[in-house]
Amino acid sequence: MPPSPIIITLDGWSSCGKSTLAKALAKALGYVFVDSGAMYRAVTLYFLRNEVDLSSEKQVQKALSEIELGFVFNAGRGASDVYLNGENVEPLIRDMKVAEKVSKVAALPLVRKFAVQQQQRMGAAKGIVMDGRDIGTVVFPNAQLKIFMTADQETRVKRRFMELSASDPAITLEAVRENLARRDHMDATREESPLRQAVDARVLDNTHLNPQEQFEMALGWAKEAIR
Ligand code: DC
Repeated sequence: MPPSPIIITLDGWSSCGKSTLAKALAKALGYVFVDSGAMYRAVTLYFLRNEVDLSSEKQVQKALSEIELGFVFNAGRGASDVYLNGENVEPLIRDMKVAEKVSKVAALPLVRKFAVQQQQRMGAAKGIVMDGRDIGTVVFPNAQLKIFMTADQETRVKRRFMELSASDPAITLEAVRENLARRDHMDATREESPLRQAVDARVLDNTHLNPQEQFEMALGWAKEAIR
């Protein structure tokens, strides 16, 4: 009998390569990969476009009731693109305008409830790798493998800068450093589901690992957990 599929959660700081690893793991295991941060980013894009006042619960609730999120596999990228009310917003959700606002949006209890419910539905059939901040602690507290990723802040700043400067040559290292530090702070100190390492998580510090090395480490853990 083939082994039963499991849930793998991958939480950690911004820009430490969670999505790259989650994507590679999902591919190797034939699992579905879900980037939960993309959901918060797509919601943020909708809020920005519609000038939703974050201090008004009524406006937030109404906006959420108008949002339909979906994921469609994009073979070119080897991962799913996030759709907002039928529009592929994947190319739009990584820019600085969204990055500057997303931590505030993701801190709202109504937004978290909205996203977590959908994430739990996506994991019902198991065979999933989901990355985020609260996946091992709140979304799937019973996941069979939880990984907590971390890396030096300056290493993460440089990686993010390289990524962003490809599409935005005007971006500065200073702006990226400031945004990352602010997001780290907000993600870890917010009242609702702050970034925490689950007690039963395995820690992967990739400051001195290349993508292949970290993949092999995580795949080894996944194989142990699936057995
Ligand atoms: O992983 P990312 O940088 O794309 O995440 C974008 C933002 O969403 C980040 O500021 C933290 C938030 N987030 C969250 O609060 N919970 C998650 N499960 C995933 C992301």
